[in-house]
Amino acid sequence: SDPDLVARATAAKAALGERVFVLGHHYQRDEVIQFADVTGDSFKLARDAAARPEAEFIVFCGVHFMAESADILTAPEQKVILPDLAAGCSMADMARLAQVEDTWAALEEAGIADVVVPITYMNSSADIKAFCGKHDGAVCTSSNADVALEWAFAQKGEGTKVLFLPDQHLGRNTAVLKMGFSLEDCIVWDPRLPGGGNTPEQIQAARMILWKGHCSVHGRFSPDVIDELRAKIPDLNVIVHPECQYEVVTKADLVGSTEFIIKQIEAAPAGTSWAIGTELNLVKRLAEARPDLNIVFLDRNVCYCSTMNRIDLPHLVWALESLVNGEVPNVIEVDPDTEHWANIALQRMLDLPG
Ligand code: 13P
Ligand code: SF4
Repeated sequence: SDPDLVARATAAKAALGERVFVLGHHYQRDEVIQFADVTGDSFKLARDAAARPEAEFIVFCGVHFMAESADILTAPEQKVILPDLAAGCSMADMARLAQVEDTWAALEEAGIADVVVPITYMNSSADIKAFCGKHDGAVCTSSNADVALEWAFAQKGEGTKVLFLPDQHLGRNTAVLKMGFSLEDCIVWDPRLPGGGNTPEQIQAARMILWKGHCSVHGRFSPDVIDELRAKIPDLNVIVHPECQYEVVTKADLVGSTEFIIKQIEAAPAGTSWAIGTELNLVKRLAEARPDLNIVFLDRNVCYCSTMNRIDLPHLVWALESLVNGEVPNVIEVDPDTEHWANIALQRMLDLPG
């Protein structure tokens, strides 16, 4: 990274001292992650955000929904700053509140809304989290989706169904591979179609109603590449994130959140071979940290998360220097009513066992 910008970021951070706390998601660029006080997956960052009540400013190097969650989980006087407001998430954008409300109305009309528990993945906007909070539901992340589903299925008795938002892959993978459900227990709900594209019988029979959303980065990994790599590299270990398609996850050896992937690679015996199916900034960092392993990326092409990558060193320097100069730019502030209900859904997650 540009030495001048590194020096400016270092100086600005030193000038701010304890007043600023920088959080960095594992998919952030190296040039940014070097300035993070803590790094983590979305679950760890949600907990860490609340861990520095004395910091006036939380600079969130990640994407918009994560900064919203940090705002909800921190004290009202703490300001959460997203260095580039264009750092959104295409998956979170796939579930809009109006669509989810229409879906709920359709479930009411089908006479089943009273047994449906809405669970939203962390990767959703604050108003979707608030919707879940209002309707006896909760938030989950890729680290605790199984525990959250167990909790959900205990909420409304025998016939409980879960509306899982917005990542169909995390929902399906968790239900089938962790909860022992069958693929037929899951239906996909396309918000653009009447009945989500399902017959009334399919809706009645479903246990998991999976929102038709996906991650544009993890959705790209394909089972063919796993076959190709296994043919080329003997004793290959394949490790993927649960946002990957079911066909990819079932071909992999290990599946888990970014934090899980990091722990596995850190503990891997020297000389072993690994294909990693998650975002490229993290895969490259892991490969650099473990030159004694043979690490390959599970995609034929380069694929970064373009919105995570929007937070670059120039944006971070700008945000930090603005704070030094007494300006507070790009504040992410969730409105009080949304915050109240979203916080209920987030707390239900944070109170889960484990
Ligand atoms: P985790 O941080 O929960 O592993 O999720 C990955 C992701 O896609 C974040 O945007
Ligand atoms: Fe969203 Fe996928 Fe990027 Fe994560 S990696 S921020 S889920 S688009």
